[in-house]
Amino acid sequence: MSLTIALNRGRILKECLPMLAEAGIEPLEDIDSSRKLVFEATGGHKLIVMRGSDVPTYVEYGAADVGITGKDTILEYGRDARFYERLDLGIGRCKLMTAMPEGEEMGNGPLTVGTKFVNISRAYFEELNRHVTLIPLAGAIEIAPIMGLADLIVDIVDTGNTLRANGLTARETIADISTRLIVNRAAQKTRFDDVQSLVNKLREVVAG
Ligand code: PRP
Repeated sequence: MSLTIALNRGRILKECLPMLAEAGIEPLEDIDSSRKLVFEATGGHKLIVMRGSDVPTYVEYGAADVGITGKDTILEYGRDARFYERLDLGIGRCKLMTAMPEGEEMGNGPLTVGTKFVNISRAYFEELNRHVTLIPLAGAIEIAPIMGLADLIVDIVDTGNTLRANGLTARETIADISTRLIVNRAAQKTRFDDVQSLVNKLREVVAG
């Protein structure tokens, strides 16, 4: 039997396609040069390409059997998600961090926080007993403090170049991030052999 695999477009897609190819799953046409979103692949598998934040949704509801997306996306989706996280693919490594303008201090007063990761941030600051006002943003989070929209941000930090270029410094690490393979709960049982075969092959690719 074949699997329907939801893939996070962008950087993660680029890095996971060679891994899937090594595991024997290759799209029958070039994903980069097509506007299509669903691709037939070797082994009768199907690859569907979507925004990262939709990958957990497709997998939770079983529209995809498995999905590949970042741990940040999974955490933001929620802790009680109804899917299994089966494998760390070891790619897309970065950190989810707080960051502030250089030289500024957090102090003890109320803070405004600009972020794409509203759920993660809420949980993080609640745990710290910090009162914060969350300002949801869709991208270019690093400009929020410069423009006076937020005191600090919660965002992905890889090289740190974007922070530096915008006069910000990283503060606390909230989570270590990498790309994960998630599996629909029903598929884990009803398609056990296919799921297990994919997990095992990808595990070998990661180890190799
Ligand atoms: C991410 C993140 C930062 C940047 C960090 O954005 O939101 O802006 O990468 O990388 P760095 O530490 O190496 O500078 P991405 O390019 O993925 O685009 P996005 O704004 O759509 O998330």
